[in-house]
Amino acid sequence: VDADGTRVFALTAQAGTTEFEPGVPSESWGFNGGYLGPTLVADRGERVRVEVRNTLDEPTTVHWHGMHLPAAMDGGPHQMVAPGATWAPEWLVAQQAATLWYHPHPHGETETHVSRGLAGLVLLHDDAERALGLPAEYGVDDVPVIVQDTGFSAEGRREAAQRGYAGALGDELLVNGTRSPYFEAGDELLRLRLLNASTARSYAFAWADDRPVRLIGTDGGLLDAPVELPELRLSPGERAEVLVRLTPGERLVLQSRMTPELAGLVGPVAQTNGAADGFDVLELRAAEQLRAATADPDALIPLPPLEDGELAADRRFVLDDSFEINGHAMDLGRIDETVTVDTLERWTVVNDTALPHSFHVHDVQFRLAAVAGEPPPPELAGWKDTIFVEPETEYVLLLRFADYADPDTPYMYHCHLLWHEDQGMMGQFAVV
Ligand code: C2O
Ligand code: CU
Ligand code: CU
Repeated sequence: VDADGTRVFALTAQAGTTEFEPGVPSESWGFNGGYLGPTLVADRGERVRVEVRNTLDEPTTVHWHGMHLPAAMDGGPHQMVAPGATWAPEWLVAQQAATLWYHPHPHGETETHVSRGLAGLVLLHDDAERALGLPAEYGVDDVPVIVQDTGFSAEGRREAAQRGYAGALGDELLVNGTRSPYFEAGDELLRLRLLNASTARSYAFAWADDRPVRLIGTDGGLLDAPVELPELRLSPGERAEVLVRLTPGERLVLQSRMTPELAGLVGPVAQTNGAADGFDVLELRAAEQLRAATADPDALIPLPPLEDGELAADRRFVLDDSFEINGHAMDLGRIDETVTVDTLERWTVVNDTALPHSFHVHDVQFRLAAVAGEPPPPELAGWKDTIFVEPETEYVLLLRFADYADPDTPYMYHCHLLWHEDQGMMGQFAVV
């Protein structure tokens, strides 16, 4: 924290090596290290500044995914950081406690930069969340779980995965950059912060013993009450907070059990896109003596009712087979939509293809008003910035772009399958 109370972070993008397999170095990129980056922690109401230094020999950016902030601080493709340069965005944390993340966003290169290892978590806290008494000791009972898929050679060198329609799908998983991961738990109750930081793969997280997944939070914050699910689906870019209760000495495996049905896939494409792949994600190993649970409340953070105020705009975004939105590929020089600051908008996102996509909007946390003409299920009723978009399905979003107007600097909306994004499945909106 500097003299005027601003919380200052330093992130240096660097190239190096990482031993995913002991003794076998793989080339990798990271922030302040070989692979991935530090978790940034801040409080609602704090001013933050991040000194982003680029020591790579190519330009990159750092985008604050899920953060409400001015467009010039967003770290999208208009805020490139040249090799050797430092960029120091600064903003006020003006949103509720949530699990956010950061990653590069250079147009056409995002898949490459993220898959090389540039990504990290941002945890926001606030008083309402603290008052719940949820597990909150980072790395002890509040545990980051950054999930990525990758390929490895027989000797254990990390290598590029095969590219299909979704993008590159690896046949192994890393959690927090670790191969064959396990977590030694000393607490009865754990809070897992799941981030799907994969470039293309979606997961259906489930417990090996079939106990329900107890979901307490989505992209933009805690739900109003825990939701129990047989499996939790996360597309690239989405986050979830999950509670799990362990018994002494227990071994419990978090798995991913995607099926064509859960992926929303039918017919000839049902076996593609990793839609039939299963994985062990993370083994939890409980100690023989466990610290008693902190709170596991039945009521979390109240969700306001869906806004039914006057709509300033009703927009439609059609995702099509040419990896375009509304018939256009991304053009950095074109502003696709102009939004009026502090007004309510309704965006209907239509997946007009036979493949799943994801849809992400910068700057806001939005609410879903409808999924395929029905009210959203409870796990999609909270604050979201990224959604899994099933084939041939319509999603209705309610969004309010508050506080920050800048006619000259657009924000992005895009598919978060990063190869699709790089192909141009992205558009720009300015808030004026
Ligand atoms: Cu997670 Cu536009 O990005
Ligand atoms: Cu984003
Ligand atoms: Cu896509």
